[in-house]
Amino acid sequence: MAFPRRPSTVLRYVIAALLLTLTLYILAEPIDFSLIGPLLLSTPLGRLYFSNEHPIDKLIKAAEIEFATTISRETQTLPDAAAAYRKRRGRHPPPGFDEWHKFAKERHAIIVEDFWDQIYHDLEPFWALKPAQIRRDAREFEMRIEVRDHKASTGSGWFWTQIWLDMIQSIEHLLPDMDLALNAMDEPRIVVPWEDIDQYIHEAANTRKMADVKKVVSEFGELPPLGQASLEKGGAREITWEHEKHYWLIARRGCPPDSPAQKAAVVTNFDQTPNIASPFSLEHMQDGYVANYTLSTTFCHQPDLQALEGIFVEPISVSATKSLLPIFGGSKLAVNNDILLPAPMYWNEEERFMGAEGASIPWSAKDPTAIWRGVATGGTNRPTNWRAFQRHRFVAMNNATQLRLAASSSSSPAAPQPPLNFALPDKRYHHHHLPSPSTPALADWISTTTSIALTDLITCPTSTATPSAAATLGFLRSTSLPIKATLWREWHDARLVAWKHFVPMDSRFGDWYGVLEYFVGGGGGGGGGGASGSVGEAGRDGVAEGIAMAGREWAGRVLRREDMQVYVLRLLLEYARVVDDRREVMGWVGDLR
Ligand SMILES: *[C@@H]1O[C@H](CO)[C@@H](O)[C@H](O)[C@H]1NC(C)=O
Ligand SMILES: *[C@@H]1O[C@H](CO)[C@@H](O)[C@H](O)[C@H]1NC(C)=O
Repeated sequence: MAFPRRPSTVLRYVIAALLLTLTLYILAEPIDFSLIGPLLLSTPLGRLYFSNEHPIDKLIKAAEIEFATTISRETQTLPDAAAAYRKRRGRHPPPGFDEWHKFAKERHAIIVEDFWDQIYHDLEPFWALKPAQIRRDAREFEMRIEVRDHKASTGSGWFWTQIWLDMIQSIEHLLPDMDLALNAMDEPRIVVPWEDIDQYIHEAANTRKMADVKKVVSEFGELPPLGQASLEKGGAREITWEHEKHYWLIARRGCPPDSPAQKAAVVTNFDQTPNIASPFSLEHMQDGYVANYTLSTTFCHQPDLQALEGIFVEPISVSATKSLLPIFGGSKLAVNNDILLPAPMYWNEEERFMGAEGASIPWSAKDPTAIWRGVATGGTNRPTNWRAFQRHRFVAMNNATQLRLAASSSSSPAAPQPPLNFALPDKRYHHHHLPSPSTPALADWISTTTSIALTDLITCPTSTATPSAAATLGFLRSTSLPIKATLWREWHDARLVAWKHFVPMDSRFGDWYGVLEYFVGGGGGGGGGGASGSVGEAGRDGVAEGIAMAGREWAGRVLRREDMQVYVLRLLLEYARVVDDRREVMGWVGDLR
């Protein structure tokens, strides 16, 4: 059998051992030869030496398969969409599902049931609360949009609310009566303790069943007219709002009790070099690169992030509660129980953020330049906590002077100065041409790869979530390659596949040099321990272009304003059902009658 690369002397031993094992196995019973490759690759050494592939090559291939599998579940007809719904959700679709489907088809939306997973993640715990209580909580919240008799309105002039109102008015003719509580703040509001959510999810599961078709109610109820005293019984709930600026203390209660985030000591002194976990030690990483993007955005297994993210250290404002309230907002962390809507900026600033700017510049005419939108920092940074902020970290990591100071250079008599707020790349990256940090080569490479122009280093405006959201979509819609490191969740996450539509990066940025070297090349000169070759040094411009174009093309099909309308209509039909007293027997069963 052929190996992709000629084995070195040392490696022959490894090959012999593996071949021996395989031969015995083959003698024992016939074997599918396609199994041998994966078998060889199943050990770390096998992965390292037998595969000429860069770890990112493998992740890109896996992403292709994941995307193709998802897309193969696309449905065309209403009965097929309803069947896919029942299979995935365990309930009948909500009343109005036929109109939703018609609306989606008219707008040429791609209908894959998975695309709405976020809605069910967000709403499921509410099935454990009494509908009347949810309605009352919404009605009593200070900022609201109200829908009566197919007309949406608000008493608030706040610009976000006005944008959301515009969005909801575009589908109001299809909406039943409802009150929507809206988060007017930048930061998400709800972190229900993990134990409570676990209990709610358990209780919600007991309501998940296919109601008897003959008894299904297919009309929504009506709410009392606006201004008329609420008919709901019972007084207002006492809601406690917390303003603890050390948000980690609030956020981590959304993690399981035995999770590292709950068990790790709380960092209170940020005036020191943070503890940074190795990118090779984390569950969401594979060979040093993000392999499970969704998991990378949860932090319950990443307690070191408490000192590496502005949101945890000192967000601009905090007003949080443990109570499960039906509050809608534009983005959130994995532990937040807010209900996601498309962020106002997505709906409002379509021209600016969705493709007009830079979108038409062909790939070949672009500079291989990394542009950093310094907006996802989110927080108040001070002389005593700047080491905990992402933007400072990223800038320092791309500062050749700091890299040079950190190298234990024999030519320099000065002792190396370890970086204050970032980690040098793990040695294991050097098998793939990355220059070693223990020589000046890494600094030389960073400075001579004229690829890093840290533009737009604006101080973060007051918002944490929304600008980053807008930047994400803007990059996707452009012809640039988006590289994304975030803990924020958004309405469209289920539609995008990491390594297919964008490049995911760990929140510590430990994989940054490796990602850059993979795409831009220019490494390999640092005398790292790994194999030499021309692949890594040349970069992979074509691969970068492929992801950039795939992301752009896909965003043009599933992240349009029409797709936001389709998402919000589905969301609000579900919301209207879960707040209705008859919710367990409500549904659309037009295809079964
Ligand atoms: C990614 O992690 C999540 C847990 O957050 C898990 O449910 C999922 O199966 C993982 N995906 C893959 C492809 O391993
Ligand atoms: C790079 O780091 C050096 C040393 O810390 C500092 O003096 C310089 O201002 C930094 N440059 C930039 C562009 O941040």
